[in-house]
Amino acid sequence: MSGASASPARPDVVPVLTIDGPSGSGKGTVCRAAAQALGWALLDSGALYRLVALAARQRGIALDDAPALGRLAEGLDIRFGSDAAGEELVWLDGRDVTRAIRTETAGNDASKVAALPAVRTALLGRQRRFVAPPGLVADGRDMGTVVFPDAAVKIFLTASADERAGRRYKQLKEKGVAATLAALSREIAERDQRDISRTASPLVASDDAVLLDTTGITVDAVVRRVLEIVRERLSPG
Ligand code: C5P
Repeated sequence: MSGASASPARPDVVPVLTIDGPSGSGKGTVCRAAAQALGWALLDSGALYRLVALAARQRGIALDDAPALGRLAEGLDIRFGSDAAGEELVWLDGRDVTRAIRTETAGNDASKVAALPAVRTALLGRQRRFVAPPGLVADGRDMGTVVFPDAAVKIFLTASADERAGRRYKQLKEKGVAATLAALSREIAERDQRDISRTASPLVASDDAVLLDTTGITVDAVVRRVLEIVRERLSPG
């Protein structure tokens, strides 16, 4: 995936590519591959909500205690990095929580704390500080609508609910985590419902986003299309 360089039409503005969409739409994989191909930084905004949820559990804060969760999100000691093999690592209060934030429980807890405006507001500045030359790929639910409304390129990824549950099932099996397809389908539907129906930054495609349905399409093909869109949008003229 080389030769993907994209120069912004306005060199004074750091380009941001936002990729939003529901759980299991392939966003994480596509964002990582796009960031690597472009040589841009990556913001995994879902990880921030997962970290708030995990920290809340560890400190015994109820997942609906908005003021306490807002303060928690504001002051979280978080660090992102990678190991020698290039695998992403995440630390919370100096402890490696890379695996702990990836559990289904952490994901479901994250979608609960993410419904609270106090938490979303507390994380805004932290997310925007990820913008750095030569560019940023931002992965989330409200990247194009709320966090980076002026992003140079916005994409909204979708896939059928069945396909998304199937992908998640495969991922978990590969990791040796026990799961059933029926339970995953139910959880994905519940999480979608919570993300779509909340009043604070609901999951919705920005008016100016390109919609990409990834049902039945390989990750490589989606990444190629994303890079084409970036090049089309950022090429001068
Ligand atoms: O993408 P990921 O599964 O890690 O996100 C976990 C949860 O965090 C989502 O279900 C969603 O509720 C929330 N989230 C959000 N806004 C974002 C990213 C994630 O509300 N920008």
